Amino acid sequence: MTGKQPAAAQRLTVALGERSYDILVGPGLVARAGEEIAPLMRRRQAVVVTDATVAAHYLAPLEASLGAAGIAHHAIVLPPGEATKDLAHFGRLIDDLLSSGIERGTMLVALGGGVVGDIAGFAAATVLRGIDFVQIPTTLLAQVDSSVGGKTAINTAAGKNLVGAFYQPRLVLIDTATLATLPRRELRAGYAETVKYGLIADADFFSWLDAENRAVYDLDAAALTRAVITSCRMKADIVAADERETGDARALLNFGHTFGHALEAETGFGDALLHGEAVALGMALAFDFAAELGLVSAVDARRVRDHLDAAGLPTTLGAAGLSGTAADPLLAHMGKDKKVRDGGITLILPRRIGEAFVMRDAPVARLRAFLAACD
Ligand code: NAD
Ligand code: GLY
Repeated sequence: MTGKQPAAAQRLTVALGERSYDILVGPGLVARAGEEIAPLMRRRQAVVVTDATVAAHYLAPLEASLGAAGIAHHAIVLPPGEATKDLAHFGRLIDDLLSSGIERGTMLVALGGGVVGDIAGFAAATVLRGIDFVQIPTTLLAQVDSSVGGKTAINTAAGKNLVGAFYQPRLVLIDTATLATLPRRELRAGYAETVKYGLIADADFFSWLDAENRAVYDLDAAALTRAVITSCRMKADIVAADERETGDARALLNFGHTFGHALEAETGFGDALLHGEAVALGMALAFDFAAELGLVSAVDARRVRDHLDAAGLPTTLGAAGLSGTAADPLLAHMGKDKKVRDGGITLILPRRIGEAFVMRDAPVARLRAFLAACD
């Protein structure tokens, strides 16, 4: 274990044998990153990968902390936004890493949201056949989901996250205070991934969010910490049970994502619909479709829709600038999902709030009719 620990930080562990790692959650961890990372280093050299927006807020305190811990460091600053997660930026990132004098013992530190975490994590997985890396997530989405579990990836012309690796970080430092500068829309998008955990596995957590969601968006420290810790604990347990998604356990984390990825593809992977917003709409559609198939009660479906609506998240195709006329293109995107098996579409569907299951070979004609009737 590391030496000094911020008084307010809580520690969880992702139990993966010799690849186990800790997740620290609390305010002020960016400023203490150096002392937390130093004991894990093979040589006192770090390269920070971040984006320009995050760098403006948090690169200086992170670098000061690395310097204070005697860690030599330099930074590579990427443009912000999903468009950065492509092959061209990945190629430049690898060239920049290799020309900056890194060695196998260099630690890569990914400072930013899911975009930075995914592309920097994939670079760490591949450069010099793999170097250690640390995640310092600065969006709510990255704090409750993408920084934990070792999925790294970039997008290609064929679709989202289709090139990547399972590659676990050595440490995740979740500084909840960084959310103070996150735009509200991004915060709400990340909130959707928080709700996901309640919907797939923890009805009590969903009920707590139903009561306390305002405290979470208003960044009340206790509520935020509880939301992040509960989410990370669930994710850590699922990853420990099914690291590479070979069973159904980790697949459940894709709840809302088969619809969501199709919606993102159809709206151009950009500002029209953020990833978390697409997941929110995907979760609402999954509940409605399951209700139509008689798998879940209409009461639960309504409750979920009302909760997401109250959070200001999209729950209709219209809110995403689409309509039922997009049914065929959406189905075509769903047919390219990573979970497709023998050409059949896989959906994660609810049985009730707090329980979900994997449906292989979803009934495509019913799905088309359902989407075509959506407003
Ligand atoms: P993002 O990384 O693009 O961040 C959103 C925006 O917020 C960016 O403009 C960024 O510069 C800015 N930002 C980040 N932190 C900030 C802060 N503290 N203050 C002010 N601005 C800040 O988006 P995201 O929502 O974090 O991540 C989305 C990505 O995550 C998608 O590419 C998705 O595929 C991926 N993802 C990966 C996993 C996984 O398991 N690997 C899981 C879910 C999502
Ligand atoms: N976000 C889905 C997963 O990590 O498996």
